[in-house]
Amino acid sequence: MERKISLTGIKPTGILHIGNYFGAIKPALELVNTYDALYFIADYHALNTMKDPAKLRASIREVAAGWLAAGLDPDRVIFYRQSGIPEVFELTTMIMAFTAKGLMNRAHAYKAQAAANSEKGADPDAGVNMGLFTYPVLMAADILLFNADVVPVGKDQIQHIEMAQDIAGAVNANYKQLVLKIPRPAVQEEAAVVPGLDGRKMSKSYHNTIPLFLDEKDLRKLIMRMVTNSQPLEDPKDPETSQIYLLYKLFSSAEEQAALASRYRAGGMGWGEAKEELFRVVNRCLAPLRERFRAVIADVEGLDRILKRGAEKARPIAAATVERFRKAAGIELY
Ligand code: ADP
Ligand code: TRP
Repeated sequence: MERKISLTGIKPTGILHIGNYFGAIKPALELVNTYDALYFIADYHALNTMKDPAKLRASIREVAAGWLAAGLDPDRVIFYRQSGIPEVFELTTMIMAFTAKGLMNRAHAYKAQAAANSEKGADPDAGVNMGLFTYPVLMAADILLFNADVVPVGKDQIQHIEMAQDIAGAVNANYKQLVLKIPRPAVQEEAAVVPGLDGRKMSKSYHNTIPLFLDEKDLRKLIMRMVTNSQPLEDPKDPETSQIYLLYKLFSSAEEQAALASRYRAGGMGWGEAKEELFRVVNRCLAPLRERFRAVIADVEGLDRILKRGAEKARPIAAATVERFRKAAGIELY
């Protein structure tokens, strides 16, 4: 039986953090055993916010190296850059004709920006480029082009995938045939939202991240600087309301979690000690990733070659979808 298809992308808009790792990269890599996988760097999505070429160029390579360091095997996964697949932009234009403007008005990212503007008394569209406004259409094209069955993402991306479902549904209904496969989101519940250092969702925009490839010294410093309340050392503490413990859970076994939780509840353990424990398990997990990342990022040519080869493998699949759409739509090539 043919395997189903898993597809996901990450925007190269900065360095990867453990939210990206647990929310997107790790679950995606687990699916490689049971799905045909296509994973990519969404560089044109990043262009909406990244206008500095040196930074964008560096971030594309860093995110690509991050995937490889995390264990992506380019012989088993089709791994490429969005910009290497011109068919993405053809399909984007085609599906624009099936995307209600009202649907885009409801997209979270656009709505949040418009609401923030209105709150300041500014024009709701201030600072909104068409790339941001039509972001979900390009993302739908990324997904629909490759007949994806599942799209592993964090919770915040579910709305975008539902929009891809709507758009594909509108296309199929119009042509009364299955032109585009309807994808579904795959969200891993326990890592659906990785908390940041300050208790909010971990995100670059909140400056509350634990970067994945930080060296050991800086990682320790970052964890030690976590803000805690002023509960005295001897007080019993509630693990489930502690940021330190919530992060610890991501990196430890059930036994380790139970042990730390009972030390919290017993009292006599200060926040400093809890942070040391957190650092120990985080570093245990990230040290091998960090080593591999350094090796991969040092070989830029090798990295670029992998992405180019991935695009070569991906393009025939993309071309077949565009061809199918053209035929259904009456825009055949002569
Ligand atoms: P950021 O919020 O830092 O800008 P991105 O929006 O670039 O991160 O997210 C890239 C991928 O990582 C997406 O699939 C997103 O759902 C996932 N992700 C980001 N932050 C988290 C988090 N805190 N918890 C779970 N998944 C996350
Ligand atoms: N919008 C996704 C994010 O923030 C990135 C992305 C672009 C994506 N295209 C995609 C994810 C296609 C899954 C499938 O991070």
